[in-house]
Amino acid sequence: MTAKFATILCAAATVLVCAPRASFADEKKTPLEEQMSTMNKSFKTLKKQLGDPSKKDSSLELIAAIKKAAHASKDLEPAKAKDVPEKDRAKFITDYKAAMDKLVTGFDTLEKAVKADNADGAKAALEDLTKQKGDGHKQFQKDEDK
Ligand code: HEM
Repeated sequence: MTAKFATILCAAATVLVCAPRASFADEKKTPLEEQMSTMNKSFKTLKKQLGDPSKKDSSLELIAAIKKAAHASKDLEPAKAKDVPEKDRAKFITDYKAAMDKLVTGFDTLEKAVKADNADGAKAALEDLTKQKGDGHKQFQKDEDK
């Protein structure tokens, strides 16, 4: 086999193996995953630009978008709920909704700090939100998706 032929074969195999999987994964996103992905994109940008006072308006828009997605998330149920024993399921969902309310409250705190040009307050709120994200996923996300 020539090196060129091997390269072409390898590229073709990559397309065949990876492309259908990528689109399959997209189709399979749960409504909650969709909201989380929206939240994640804004959160990543927010983390990068929060220290930049010239981006204040944009940061406030990102926070508003995250809060909207968090409100929508609260009305959905984690996929893991189906794996929780029936006797514990109601509590699991109540706890999830309470954690989502706490997340919105955390973004309210961040919003206030940004509006007040309080850089230290914004940094502290962001750290708290990053922790909430980690804790929320540990508790409510399916093990295989973590
Ligand atoms: C800034 C905060 C957060 C961000 C940026 C975030 C981001 C994400 C991302 C990127 C995913 C994976 C989506 C995918 O697979 O396409 C995810 C999944 C998930 N997140 Fe979050 N998350 C945050 C906070 C939370 C909190 C506080 C909770 C719980 C109260 C939570 C519960 C979940 C659950 C349950 C899933 C799995 C989705 C499902 O079960 O259908 N997340 N999140």
